Amino acid sequence: MKPLTVIDFHSHILPALDHGCEKIEECREQLKLMKDSGTDIAVATSHFYPHMHDIDVFADKVDRAIEKMQASGLVDAPELRVGAEVLLCKGMDGMENLNRLCIRGTNLLLIELPTSSISHKHVDTVENLMLKGYRVLLAHIDRYLDAYPDEIESLLSAGAVAQINAYSLASRSMRKQILHYLETTDKICAIGSDLHGADSSNYKKFVKAQKILDDYYPEIMQRASALLEGSQVFSVTE
Ligand SMILES: [Fe+2]
Repeated sequence: MKPLTVIDFHSHILPALDHGCEKIEECREQLKLMKDSGTDIAVATSHFYPHMHDIDVFADKVDRAIEKMQASGLVDAPELRVGAEVLLCKGMDGMENLNRLCIRGTNLLLIELPTSSISHKHVDTVENLMLKGYRVLLAHIDRYLDAYPDEIESLLSAGAVAQINAYSLASRSMRKQILHYLETTDKICAIGSDLHGADSSNYKKFVKAQKILDDYYPEIMQRASALLEGSQVFSVTE
């Protein structure tokens, strides 16, 4: 049987891009933690806030961060893919060069829903993104299942897929809710650590997800692999 490719689909690795890793030393520690924990591929998804950031400036900063990582003599690191965690803002489907925020080599956008409120205009914006040819992966939907079940359902019915955060499985009630949800949907296509910095206790929760999710785990990892088809591979080790 082909060994499972372990993909951490949501992480804040790139140095000085957001409040994840500040410096290259922390980034080195984080990548080693991921590699030592058995992660084969990590998707670097630094925060992008459309109301605050400029797409081209952000994408250029991402390029520089990768160059810095490649020049810093990293030894232990998973293979990287690079995208962004993009906060959903109403009407953002009209922004130019949005493709620069996709996981590179794909048309996949990791979209973070607002926590304050989700209106029908947000749902319309996601639908418009998909009409423009983007695929939408909703970040950590475990955060919204209680507050916005109807909106989540609308988005998934319209064609979006979803990612869950592994650390939510640490709570007994959330674990029960997620496992129950998995019985009803095949839209969960990715698991993420959402790791900021090199907190090993947090990353243990990502590793533990394999056991907790049991048979769902290989299914989700296979869906994650499919989502990454055609993505650009970034090797940052020597
Ligand atoms: Fe995140």
